[in-house]
Amino acid sequence: MVTYYDCMAKIHVAKKSDFPAGTMRMVKPEGHDEILVANVGGNFYAMRGLCHHEGGPLWEGQLDNNTVICPWHGAQWDVTTGKLIEFPLDLDPEPTYKVVIEGDDVYVEA
Ligand code: FES
Repeated sequence: MVTYYDCMAKIHVAKKSDFPAGTMRMVKPEGHDEILVANVGGNFYAMRGLCHHEGGPLWEGQLDNNTVICPWHGAQWDVTTGKLIEFPLDLDPEPTYKVVIEGDDVYVEA
């Protein structure tokens, strides 16, 4: 018999009340790349925070509605899906993560 264990960790990101719409946060869970968490109009989304182009820190870029613009060379990513919106090169999607809201606390599962 094989037993599977749930290896997901729930990482606290911020208090919802300290995380206004149109802003981003970064968390770095042990054993994972940086994760970008964004508040898009009151809904929270999370994706890998290192740009698939050359590893730019996406949480230091700009958030325009659901579009995250990489601070290094301007790749545009959809934070709700992890997919590339616009860039001269074809880049693989970034992994996305589940965001959990409990009361006033925002968590990401990774
Ligand atoms: S590292 Fe993000 S566009 Fe180049």
